[in-house]
Amino acid sequence: MTELAKVKAQFNKLYGDGTVSSFHAPGRVNLIGEHIDYNGGTVFPCALTLGTYGVARKRSDNLLRLASANIGGEPVAVSLDSIVYNKEYGWANYLLGVVVEFQKRGVPLSGLDVLIAGNVSSSAGLSSSASVELLMSVILNTMFDGKLSMVELVKLSQRAENQFVGVNCGIMDQFAVGMGKKDHAMLLNCATLEVQYIPIVLDKHRLVIGNTNSPRGLATSKYNERRAECEKAVELLHAKLDIKLLGDLTPEEFEANKQLITDETIRKRAQHVVYEIQRTKEAVEQLLRGNLEAFGNLMNDSHDSLANLYEVTGFVLDTMVALAREQTGVLGARMTGAGFGGCTVNLVEKEHVDTFIENVGRAYKEKTGITADFYIAGIGDGARQLD
Ligand code: GLA
Repeated sequence: MTELAKVKAQFNKLYGDGTVSSFHAPGRVNLIGEHIDYNGGTVFPCALTLGTYGVARKRSDNLLRLASANIGGEPVAVSLDSIVYNKEYGWANYLLGVVVEFQKRGVPLSGLDVLIAGNVSSSAGLSSSASVELLMSVILNTMFDGKLSMVELVKLSQRAENQFVGVNCGIMDQFAVGMGKKDHAMLLNCATLEVQYIPIVLDKHRLVIGNTNSPRGLATSKYNERRAECEKAVELLHAKLDIKLLGDLTPEEFEANKQLITDETIRKRAQHVVYEIQRTKEAVEQLLRGNLEAFGNLMNDSHDSLANLYEVTGFVLDTMVALAREQTGVLGARMTGAGFGGCTVNLVEKEHVDTFIENVGRAYKEKTGITADFYIAGIGDGARQLD
């Protein structure tokens, strides 16, 4: 039985037999350009083949029932007329936030039974939250004829996370999950949402994702702190420069004006952002030239900047990355996502992938006491209806 067939069978068991519609939304991995989206710069993520299935059926009343095959238990049941954030709802808040955004848009909704089932772990930093948001967006848009474009669904999903769930994320994750394309990464300008699809053809290499399986405890508070530090840097640079976001700044302008940022920590944050944007553009150029060694080196530089200047890595990520770089056949290794735990992404020669996983897994366990998970990344399509 396929994974989807299992989810459909589970749906029927939970809610009763009948016709259903089914959907899929991927997770994402960012290859380079980290902590750049909210600074209006350029990022380079791709959608994964891993992600979340959703099965849904309309109801004739006003009730929303939302269940997760991963969590189990009774569905969260809420009337469409009284949706409010409730900590107890856990994961279901991400879906409810999307429902509220559709209501604000005036899309007429009725009740709905939904079952979701994900194979991207919710603590891995592979955007399981954006995945379920886009899944719900596509479900509602399709089943209630919302007529919204995918980019609108992307923006609406980000708003749901910012306003309903209260996480101040940028646009990268929702964009990658909504707009992903099989075997391509997206060079995305986060200020304009202009996107260029770049083929990722890795005949002799693989992208290996390493999950540190370490809780990202500080992620939200530190994330918001970094955003505030970047805003402060812009404010200080404003004394001489007419910029709105750090992404507006070239490295030359930064070097000529960095003395305006008197606080050393804030200067380091800005330095990361300015040079990471440049690295991202260069990495894509190298990739297009087929120079994977250079691409891997830039991945390494990105991690080092996130560790030393932006300070969002920490012991487990630094350990996993250091161990990765010791292995034969590794071209580059870096953290991916918000940091403070979550995943690394590694560019590894195909024939060395098995020993890479074995060696890094063993040494990581010795050093941290934690068992890591590894996935060979398949690059998949964005959120969509299946049948
Ligand atoms: C999280 C956020 C994204 C982005 C990354 C860091 O994944 O959701 O918007 O800021 O962190 O690059």
